[in-house]
Amino acid sequence: MSETKVLTANIDEPGLHTIEVYERLGGYRAARKALFDMTQEEIVEELKSSGLRGRGGAGFSMGMKAGFMTKGPMEKYLCCNADESEPGTFKDRLLMQKNPHLLIEGIIIGALAAGTGRAFIFIRGEYETQAKILDAAVTEAYEKGYVGERIFGSETTLELVVHRGQGAYICGEETGLLDGLEGLRGNPRLKPPFPAAQGLYQGPTLINNVETLCNAPLIIEKGAEWFSSMGIDKSTGTKMVSVSGNVQRPGNYEIELGIKARDIVYGLAGGPPDGRKVKCWFPGGSSAPVLIDEHLDLPYSFESMAEAGSMLGSGAIIVVDETQPIVPLALRLAEFYRHESCGKCVPCREGTNWTVKMLERLDNGEGTPADLEILDNIQENIIGNCLCVLGDSMAMPIRAMIKYLRDEFVQHNEEARARRGLGEVSVGAAELAASSEAGPA
Ligand SMILES: Cc1cc2nc3c(=O)[nH]c(=O)nc-3n(C[C@H](O)[C@H](O)[C@H](O)COP(=O)(O)O)c2cc1C
Repeated sequence: MSETKVLTANIDEPGLHTIEVYERLGGYRAARKALFDMTQEEIVEELKSSGLRGRGGAGFSMGMKAGFMTKGPMEKYLCCNADESEPGTFKDRLLMQKNPHLLIEGIIIGALAAGTGRAFIFIRGEYETQAKILDAAVTEAYEKGYVGERIFGSETTLELVVHRGQGAYICGEETGLLDGLEGLRGNPRLKPPFPAAQGLYQGPTLINNVETLCNAPLIIEKGAEWFSSMGIDKSTGTKMVSVSGNVQRPGNYEIELGIKARDIVYGLAGGPPDGRKVKCWFPGGSSAPVLIDEHLDLPYSFESMAEAGSMLGSGAIIVVDETQPIVPLALRLAEFYRHESCGKCVPCREGTNWTVKMLERLDNGEGTPADLEILDNIQENIIGNCLCVLGDSMAMPIRAMIKYLRDEFVQHNEEARARRGLGEVSVGAAELAASSEAGPA
C-alpha cells in the first residue's frame, strides 16, 4: 500500500518553503490562471464540480460555501482556519511548515472565489515555528506583488495577515475563531447567520481549513475532472491523514479517499506493535465516535465513516490497542473537553463536568451499576443541544466507547472496587430508577 502524493508531491524538495523553489516547481501558475483567465463564477464552479469538501471537520463543499457568500459592495473576508486544535491532528502543521506558498496560493484563489480583498490566517499559538515560516512566506509574496495592492499587476487587491491564536480549542470552531480574530474571548456564535452571510466584523466571510485551501491551486491548474477522478462517491481527491496512538509508524500520510482504513492503519502505519489487536480507533480526530476492528475493512471516506456511525472529521486516525484500558482514556478525553469548554452554554459546561466526575468514579471503583446508564444518558442529552459541537465532540466518542466496550467499563469499576476494598455495590440501576420515579420524599 502506498500513498497518493498530490498535495505532498514536492514536500521533500529542499527549500520548498521559499518562493523561488515553489515557483520553480510551477507554483503561482494557478493563481495567475484564476486571476486572468477565469471569472469569479468560473472559479466557484470549478471548485464545486471538483467535489472538494472541507478538510477541517464538517466536510462541506468549498465551492458551495464560496457561492453562498452574500453579494454586494460590503467588505468581505476570507479566514484560513489554521488552528488545528483537534487532538490527533497534525497535517496542517506539515503543509504550512513545508509548503507555505501552496497555502498562500490557495488563499489567493479562495479570495477570488469569495470576492474578497482581505484574508487572514488564524494559526494556533503553539505553532510558533510554522507561524514564523508563514510570516516569512507572506513577506516574500508581498515583495513579489502576489499579495497586497494590484496583485500580479492586476487591478485586484488582496491583503493577507497572519494572526496567532492563544491556545484555545474553541478558536478552531469557525465562529469562535471569528471572535478571537476580532480581539474578543473566543466564544462560538449562534448559527444562523452563517459566516458566509455574516462573519468577521459582520461581513460575509469564507472560512476554510488549511488543507482545503491547499487543494484549490491543484484544482484550478489540473481541472475539476482530474480532481474528482480520485476518490470514491462524494469523497473526491486525496486526504491527509495523521495517524497516531498504538501504531508502529505514526505520522502524516496522503491517501486517495476510499482506500480501506486497514490499509492506512496496518499498511502505512504498521498497525499496533508486537502483534497486538486494535481495540478501537478514532477515524477523524478525538471528537469522532470510536469504531472497532471490523470497521477497518470499510473504505475511508466521508460517506462510509458516517454510515458506520462515525465521521471522517479532520482525518486524524488515533489507534487504541488491546493493552490500553478504556476508562482512563475516556476520562482523559472528557477532561480535555471540560477544560476547553467555553462555558457559554449549559449542556456543554455542565455535561463535560458531570462526565468527568462519573468517569472518575468508575475509574476509582466508586461507580454503581446505574452509573453507566446515567453516563450514557448525559451524553445523549448533550448531543445536538449545544451552541456549537464542542460538547458533542466529547459526548459522541464516549457514547461509542460505552456502546462497544460496555463490559470493560463494568469490569474496570469492579476491579478497582475490589482493589480498594470498597465492599458491595449498594445501589443498582433498577433501584435508582425506582427511587427517582417515586420523587423526593
Ligand atoms: C470545537 C471545534 C473545533 C474545531 N477546530 C477546528 C480546527 O482546529 N481546524 C479546522 O480547520 N476546523 C476546525 N473546526 C471546524 C470549523 O468549525 C469549520 O467547520 C472549518 O474550519 C471549515 O473549514 P473547511 O470547510 O475547509 O473544513 C472545529 C469545529 C469545532 C466544533
